Amino acid sequence: MPLWRAAWLSFTLVGTLALSGCGQQSTLDPHSEPARQIETLWWVMLVGSVIAFGGACYLLVIAWRRPERTGLPVVGDSPRAIEATVAVFGIAIPVVALIALFVYSNVSVIQATEPPAPEETAMTIEVTGSQWWWQVRYPGTPAITANEIHIPVNTRVNIVTEAEDVIHSFWIPQLNRKVDSLPGKPNRVEIFADEPGRYLGSCAEFCGVQHAQMDVAVYADTPERFRAWLDNQARPRPTPPTPLARKGEQVFLSKQCASCHTIRGTSARGEVGPDLTHLKSRETLGALTIPNRKGYLAGWVIDPQTMKEGTKMPALDITGPELQALVEYLERLR
Ligand code: CUA
Repeated sequence: MPLWRAAWLSFTLVGTLALSGCGQQSTLDPHSEPARQIETLWWVMLVGSVIAFGGACYLLVIAWRRPERTGLPVVGDSPRAIEATVAVFGIAIPVVALIALFVYSNVSVIQATEPPAPEETAMTIEVTGSQWWWQVRYPGTPAITANEIHIPVNTRVNIVTEAEDVIHSFWIPQLNRKVDSLPGKPNRVEIFADEPGRYLGSCAEFCGVQHAQMDVAVYADTPERFRAWLDNQARPRPTPPTPLARKGEQVFLSKQCASCHTIRGTSARGEVGPDLTHLKSRETLGALTIPNRKGYLAGWVIDPQTMKEGTKMPALDITGPELQALVEYLERLR
């Protein structure tokens, strides 16, 4: 292979690897002070390791190009010089570098990403991981939603996370470090976003067959938008406005739906699946697996296993007209 082709190939491979780490879940695009500290630590470690690795490669190349020379490159074969080299590069520099990194990461970065006392934050949100979705509660209000967490921008928010079944892990890389969601032992992390927008995260602890489709999104809204959103989430479901939607609500309450899902304002109080009171206010279904649009919603209701194999939601055995009414009803839950 000509040299230029080899160079181009390596460039493409390295570029692809580098870029695949970018996008919306990158630690390298921080939007809060703790996330910026983590980014700096990342760069410090990258630069340090590149210097060490580059130096080692340089010495290897020298040795390889002059196999007839004895002793060490540059230093020669004086025993004292060799001993000194080993002591400096093999012991002194690693010890100093590791101690410096330990102190810097533990004292500076871990302190900066540590959750503050709850009273220092403006609000608390409870996030509970289950196979394979996130329940989101706003204590002090009846609001309960799933997978899509709204927060006010430029506001310190205290996240308290737990798990319902197995260990999950909550991580919004652009906003702060990762914390495990454990059954029965709440963990806390502060999230803060310095700009309105959507910040993505994924469950970061292997938790079963759909671990890869257990995503979460944080929406940082302006304070007015956030207030309006939360007020709406706290209300019971809107009354079904059409005869078809009213029929849909009857279908919902008479089929299996109501034993797993809650719709506040109706007799449906199930707690196995997400609260659906304002289902249509969310952009996605199945923990960001599919868009929350009519066709996907209908498909999800009759055959969720095809879209997310292993989900606890069973396929609903209903007639075509019942499905039509049910979807009409769910589409009105804004
Ligand atoms: Cu939940 Cu991985």
